[in-house]
Amino acid sequence: MARTPLMAGNWKMNLDHLEANQLIQKLSFTLADAGYDPSQSEAVVIPPFTDIRTVQTAIDADSVPLKYGAQNVSTHDNGAFTGDISTAMLVKLGCSYVVVGHSERREYHGETNEIVGEKAKKVLDAGMVPIMCCGEALDIRKEGTHVDFVLGQISQMLAPLSAQQVAQSVIAYEPIWAIGTGEVATPADAQEVCGAIRRHVAELFDQTTADAVRIQYGGSVKASNVRDIMAQPDVDGALVGGASLKPEEFAKIIMFYA
Ligand code: 13P
Repeated sequence: MARTPLMAGNWKMNLDHLEANQLIQKLSFTLADAGYDPSQSEAVVIPPFTDIRTVQTAIDADSVPLKYGAQNVSTHDNGAFTGDISTAMLVKLGCSYVVVGHSERREYHGETNEIVGEKAKKVLDAGMVPIMCCGEALDIRKEGTHVDFVLGQISQMLAPLSAQQVAQSVIAYEPIWAIGTGEVATPADAQEVCGAIRRHVAELFDQTTADAVRIQYGGSVKASNVRDIMAQPDVDGALVGGASLKPEEFAKIIMFYA
């Protein structure tokens, strides 16, 4: 079963809309020069909300072979939710993907697995694809209970979704101790958990769903380590933070296959 690799750059709270425009231009030139083939890997940028309109314009104007999405979304449709953004607003801006349940949202905004599942359902119902994040903190990794911990997150996050919805979704395994630390999980560490997630999806749903869902690794992914990580059978992509802010570096990550 062929799963197209998904290389996504989560900009987090970086780059204003002018800087976003520059990054898209540079990324676009670099990919074109290097002969990027979108059938080999799907490339996505995930800017802050305030940049999305600019990113949309830059991509559409030059038919840049990039998709884009948002870092978060509300569980509500509209109304008195000051500061929140709805799925309908993101659809109107042409977003394809929405990250839900990033560990930074869990830590600083109290998002639980239940909320993450609810957001994922909202995203799917709106016709976009959720990138559902999971991953353990360092203390859990040291205890050696990380696989069970992550599978517990997966069970709760996927509970509101149908098999068909899960098949269209993306799960990102991001061990918290590897995020922004320069400490990358070994390819074997990434495979251990991504493989366990896929087997768990087969148990919760069925093998067809497990074969279809794309599972990314995230945490200090760079051009220098992406190939070994992508060589793992259950790793279908990368969710990249810091390195996605450097267009040449991110272009190399997108073109890991070359
Ligand atoms: P870094 O690549 O900066 O470690 O961030 C990973 C991440 O959190 C992507 O969502």
